[in-house]
Amino acid sequence: MARLAGKQIFITGAAQGIGLAIARACLREGAQVFLTDRDGRTLEQAVTELEADAGQLGHAVADITDQDAINASVEKARALFGGVNALINNAGINVFHDPLSMPDSEWEKCMDVDLKGAWNCCKAVLPAMIAEGAGCILNIASTHAFTIIPHTFPYPVAKHALLGMTRALGIEYAPHGVRVNALAPGYVETQKNIDYWNSFPDPQAARAQTLALHPGGRIATPEEIAMAAVFLISDECPFINAACLTADGGLSVLHHPA
Ligand SMILES: NC(=O)c1ccc[n+]([C@@H]2O[C@H](COP(=O)([O-])OP(=O)(O)OC[C@H]3O[C@@H](n4cnc5c(N)ncnc54)[C@H](O)[C@@H]3O)[C@@H](O)[C@H]2O)c1
Repeated sequence: MARLAGKQIFITGAAQGIGLAIARACLREGAQVFLTDRDGRTLEQAVTELEADAGQLGHAVADITDQDAINASVEKARALFGGVNALINNAGINVFHDPLSMPDSEWEKCMDVDLKGAWNCCKAVLPAMIAEGAGCILNIASTHAFTIIPHTFPYPVAKHALLGMTRALGIEYAPHGVRVNALAPGYVETQKNIDYWNSFPDPQAARAQTLALHPGGRIATPEEIAMAAVFLISDECPFINAACLTADGGLSVLHHPA
């Protein structure tokens, strides 16, 4: 039995990485999936690669900081599938700085994408979910939503706030049958982390150092994060709301001895 049969899922930042892995897992579980991303070329490649049946897959280029573009994409998904009953706010960017030397424009860029962008997408789907009395929103947060790595400012500020928004909306719309949850991955094998390791003089050593931090000696695959996302948007957890599921292999619980 497909676990997401009857679900019409709108995913942002779905052209690559975790978003693409979630899209693939949702299709495998029988959902209709609408992919959006601001990078049109990579999005086209992703759609070709997914090879879904006609009627099961749609896509549109949209930047989540552009409310009109997001509204139009949600309308396109509704026209194609007959509705949107799940939103996955996955699009996000790393903005890492020393706080005091950071230009204001970097703060604004981070908040616009990592926080306001997710809210823009919520605004596009919530009225219809409330009218239907059912729906589900999943925000891809991070362990940066409750822990801090020095010199990564202001990314964790935005992710803490995304978790706050998850809780606030989950409480606000529970009476209307809408669940809002967060998923907090730790390190995942994605381009974002490859770029991060490549910023060090010895990328291999930097990668090995990251892996060694983990109790299991490895980081997550995008597919492992996607499996958790499938669970959270499925009907297998109807009473999980305003919650955050951590998927970091235990890293954020580990106490490093002095
Ligand atoms: N990779 C990790 O280790 C990790 C860990 C924790 C949380 N996360 C979170 O998971 C999510 C996905 O991360 P990823 O590693 O797959 O990233 P990624 O950079 O590989 O992919 C992100 C996608 O989002 C798109 N995107 C970025 N800004 C956008 C915007 N304004 N509008 C529309 N699309 C936009 C990009 O074009 C890209 O296709 C992010 O929210 C990130 O913060 C990632």
